Amino acid sequence: MVVASADLLTEIDTTIARFSSEPDNLILILHAIQDAHGYVPRESALILSERLGVPLARIYEVLTFYHYFRTAPPGEHSIVVCHGTSCWLNGSAPVLEAARAYAANHAGTNVSEVRCVGCCSLAPLAFADKKIHTHLDAQKTTEMLSGLSGHDGKH
Ligand code: FES
Repeated sequence: MVVASADLLTEIDTTIARFSSEPDNLILILHAIQDAHGYVPRESALILSERLGVPLARIYEVLTFYHYFRTAPPGEHSIVVCHGTSCWLNGSAPVLEAARAYAANHAGTNVSEVRCVGCCSLAPLAFADKKIHTHLDAQKTTEMLSGLSGHDGKH
């Protein structure tokens, strides 16, 4: 049995009740949890597993399959790299690598991927704190990220 705060148990039970008649309600419930917390906390996933009788592994299968879901709190800075076909063909892999290298040295920076954002002629591209940066390569990515507010380029 999961030990959790009464507030969290109430929140999850209310959310489960809200979507109880919907098919595929697991995804809807996970969306609601993420909307409430900014991510899906492990404690919530454990309670959900217990309440729905769904194995925890199945819940994490869903969480990791859909890029929308986060299993850690959002960081101070968010970098989203497009890894759709056009961006991939135009070099998104080194962009993603540069973004991950930057995040590894700057706590509070999250890196995630999306499939395609519909601006393929500008590939490869990424969003840094929701601002779009286009025609990137590894060097441009590193330069662009060093300009994020609150980051002075030092570790
Ligand atoms: S593949 Fe990146 S914008 Fe379409």
